[in-house]
Amino acid sequence: MTPRKILITAALPYANGDIHLGHMIEHIQTDIWVRFQKMMGNDAIFVCASDCHGTPIMLKAEEQGISPEALVTKMRERHIKDFKDFLIEFDNYYTTHSEESRQLTELIYEKLKTHGDIIRKIIKQTYDPIKDMFLPDRYVKGECPRCGAPDQYGDNCEKCGATYTPTELKNPKSVVSGTTPVQKESEHYFFDLPKYEHILKKWLHEKKHVQDAIAHKLEEWFTQGLKEWDISRDAPYFGFEIPDAPGKYFYVWLDAPIGYISSFKNLCDKRSDLNFKEYWNKNSQVELYHFIGKDILYFHTLFWPAILMGADLRTPDGVFVHGFLTVNGEKMSKSRGTFIMARKYLDHLNPEYFRYYIASKLGNHIEDVDLNLEDFKLKVNADLVGKVVNIASRCSSFIQKYFDQKLSSIETERELFNNFSQKGEDIAQFYEQREYSQAIREIMLLADWANQYINEKKPWLLIKEKNQEKNVQDICTVGLNLFRLLILYLKPVLPNLAQKTEIFLNIPPLIWEDHQKPLENDTINVFEPMIERIEQKQLDAIMGAVEI
Ligand code: MSP
Ligand code: ZN
Repeated sequence: MTPRKILITAALPYANGDIHLGHMIEHIQTDIWVRFQKMMGNDAIFVCASDCHGTPIMLKAEEQGISPEALVTKMRERHIKDFKDFLIEFDNYYTTHSEESRQLTELIYEKLKTHGDIIRKIIKQTYDPIKDMFLPDRYVKGECPRCGAPDQYGDNCEKCGATYTPTELKNPKSVVSGTTPVQKESEHYFFDLPKYEHILKKWLHEKKHVQDAIAHKLEEWFTQGLKEWDISRDAPYFGFEIPDAPGKYFYVWLDAPIGYISSFKNLCDKRSDLNFKEYWNKNSQVELYHFIGKDILYFHTLFWPAILMGADLRTPDGVFVHGFLTVNGEKMSKSRGTFIMARKYLDHLNPEYFRYYIASKLGNHIEDVDLNLEDFKLKVNADLVGKVVNIASRCSSFIQKYFDQKLSSIETERELFNNFSQKGEDIAQFYEQREYSQAIREIMLLADWANQYINEKKPWLLIKEKNQEKNVQDICTVGLNLFRLLILYLKPVLPNLAQKTEIFLNIPPLIWEDHQKPLENDTINVFEPMIERIEQKQLDAIMGAVEI
């Protein structure tokens, strides 16, 4: 079979903050899928970038007394390091503040203009006369027009859930200067989204581009009617200036998804085997998938495909939406100490624990995923330490002590091995469908089975009997072969553990196909401890309860 060509993206994290565990579940979900595709021998490419434009980034830089360029450069480096240490393996992690992004954004804008998709309109907006800038909704605070709750943002009330515009707030104040904002007129550029309603509907229905729950949400939006989308912002703004409109900038959400293309473009310049047009031309046969969180659905399933259509580029084959990470059943919260930054986690715990736990809970649905710390500890300790790695440590001790590190064959248990091997097809299907929790469940059933086999055979008793050496060597060879398959199946989730296993078993990097053949008559290496139990004090440390 010829390998599939697949381009995969995760949403671009904003460059005004560090990566937290919420971001990380998206990147883990994506990374597992990419690693699985690569193990299958497919040409999978995973690109991402830092999302560098917009008012919050501009204001954050000002607060720190540095230029926005310096801020986004620094933050991108931090993002890269956090992702790398969580074993997220990008083919490219770029920035939206790049020449490639600027050129592509301008090109796409020109295309849209030629198609008559850009409309200019004068609108009234909230303006800070002290700061001399227009204020995004989140930069105006006041009393809720419905319930009167103080200190509410300009778009919705956290107390009663009402949604409104900043002009409706009572006693509005600019978050930036504290002054009372005024209303001011300005000309804005709009993308004619309603014009695309018909082909967006067609896009939605012609193939399963989104999960069913998402399709329903989109139907709702179609029923409510699509509106023209404001793609411009006035100076001061950190972004790309609109070529034919000095003092006006492209709204960050226009150039953000174009960052997917520009990150890929940048990769093409580094890799001669990639042909940019083959991936992005209107008739591209390459598969394209975006992994995103449920909060940015509208951007990815309406604006983005419409913009791509308008620019005569290809559209995505799938937008895969996940829910939010909660901690101990609640929204992550700074005051409760449950807003866990990636770096803080890494300072105390192995990234593979979190990867495993998240995989064991992730399915192809949009429900939130809960990190329950007690359950996390129990599951990782019981499954990875107690069930999986334990098989290797039990079997390898005999191979080392009595058989000079040499394996025999699995002939006595061919059927058992075949059972494990055949399960590889189901597990691959689960990974492909992004039903990781089901994949993990199957793998753990196999782990139980492998442990049961060793418990029944009792090599530790047999070895004390006469003429049982060969038997013990066979049992341990079978045990280690079952272990090898478990690790192969877990490799998309646990790449480091897989690498340690490859060194231990003295084998080349495992690929999916390897699940069909056993490892026999080989010499393996000395078993080194591979993973440690989670201790309560490590959990306390990431929650900020104690310092260790
Ligand atoms: N910059 C935009 C995305 C542009 S994509 C062209 C953005 N950035 S973000 O940093 O706020 O979020 C990045 C991704 O992380 C989004 O898909 C978002 O849904 C996801 N998550 C952020 N917090 C999350 C949780 N607590 N849980 C799960 N995912 C979350 O949006
Ligand atoms: Zn209210």
